Amino acid sequence: MAAPVVVILAAGEGTRMRSAAPKLLHPICGRPMIAWPVAAALGAGAAKVVVVDSAERPLEGAVSGVEFAIQERANGTADAVKAAGPHISGHGTVIVMHGDHPLITSKTLEALVDAHTRSGAAATVATAVLDDPSGYGRVVRAPDGTVERIVETKAPGDASERDLEIREINTGLYAFEGPELLTALEEVSADNAQGELYLPDVLRILRGQGRGVAAHVIADSGELGINDRAGLAAVRAVAQRRINEGHMLTGVTIVDPACTVIDADVRIGADSIIEPYSSLRGSTSVGERAIVGPLSTLIDTVVGDGVTIVHSYAVGAEVGERVSVGPFSFLRPGTVLREGSKAGAFVEIKNSDVGAGTKIPHLSYIGDADIGERTNLGASTITANYDGSRKHRTTIGSGVKTSVDTTLVAPVELGDGAFTAAGSVIGKDVPPGGLGGSPGVARSAQRNVEGYAERRERRDAAGTPPGRDGE
Ligand code: UD1
Ligand code: CA
Repeated sequence: MAAPVVVILAAGEGTRMRSAAPKLLHPICGRPMIAWPVAAALGAGAAKVVVVDSAERPLEGAVSGVEFAIQERANGTADAVKAAGPHISGHGTVIVMHGDHPLITSKTLEALVDAHTRSGAAATVATAVLDDPSGYGRVVRAPDGTVERIVETKAPGDASERDLEIREINTGLYAFEGPELLTALEEVSADNAQGELYLPDVLRILRGQGRGVAAHVIADSGELGINDRAGLAAVRAVAQRRINEGHMLTGVTIVDPACTVIDADVRIGADSIIEPYSSLRGSTSVGERAIVGPLSTLIDTVVGDGVTIVHSYAVGAEVGERVSVGPFSFLRPGTVLREGSKAGAFVEIKNSDVGAGTKIPHLSYIGDADIGERTNLGASTITANYDGSRKHRTTIGSGVKTSVDTTLVAPVELGDGAFTAAGSVIGKDVPPGGLGGSPGVARSAQRNVEGYAERRERRDAAGTPPGRDGE
């Protein structure tokens, strides 16, 4: 059988969300709601995917690989399918799905098409039996088990007391024979409680023409629709469970899946451990054997193998192999921590390149800096990168050691192997192997001691205590 066309209805007003944003743009696990049915349709091998969009609140740009049809006014689900008419004509099987049922999977779509092909019906509707069917259209079956019609229950007036006792609901997912769908749509009227064109009416019309209408019962959470924010949370929970299970099956330990947030596009390598209360968002990827959490948030962050990130928050950062982060680090966009480096407690870094093996263990702010390898920044080393109007860079070489409370007033450079004294304000470059600053001396009086590293080595060798040779 030729691949079906899939039409996704997404032009409704979504008033029950009480939101300024279109319902189908509300995110679920890092992707807009509309991206979920689109992914299911593409995954099921759809010949093409048509999204019926509203003229006022366009979704265009939120998804790719689809065609858009515009419904001028939200005049009901049948009217929405009509808007897709030109995209359907000439095609055989057409699947219609609602954009607000994001848990429907490719497998569910494939199974529906199979059932539809087997039954030879003009239309097959996917149904589900719910304990609480309120708000959904109810499936009225004929004595022979086929579908007679669907009764709407959203507004009073369409359904009788008896209809309301039915627990089998219309999931809003259908397979149709395209040509028959298009003809039947012409006959749908707005003579109902909401004064709209109801798509389920097509089933009654087809039946009246002596054509078969079948039901296909699904039971995979696909029936869960989103009409309000409570529904959004319920669907998100199911989607999250699926994502977490997927990672666990590929070798990731998630210590407490119920309190771990992992977005749909996140990748995690085998033998990594995600500790409780961690959020991995957006395009984050984590290597193998890493430990993330407890209580860490990674947003659009790339983490290498063997990294540890405890109680920390990273956004737009790149963390190399075997780096140690936290507790209580804040890594901001443009942070690169190279192999084996460390950002320790109460350290904030942004737009800076930290070389391999370099340690920033405590209470530092590093902004707009380039730091070489195996450098150690003492507690409270701060880059003063902003002069009130412009940002400047700080360059710190390899093998540098800054003492506690060093303020680096950018633009400034510390050469390879340089030192700074405790409590220094460094506004002038310090040459390689030199010592910048002096305890208790103001910046204007800064003095650089040439050849300090060599003297220090000699001093250490001789066992002379520091402070005796004028440093
Ligand atoms: C609809 C069905 C109901 C079913 C339920 C499943 C109708 C009349 N009723 O009710 O039988 O149980 O879905 O969730 O079809 N849309 C448009 N244009 C419109 C109106 C809606 O594109 O003019 C889209 C919406 O964006 C949404 C979908 O169609 O994605 C369903 O619309 P909604 O108003 O939520 O229908 P329900 O009242 O939930
Ligand atoms: Ca709905």
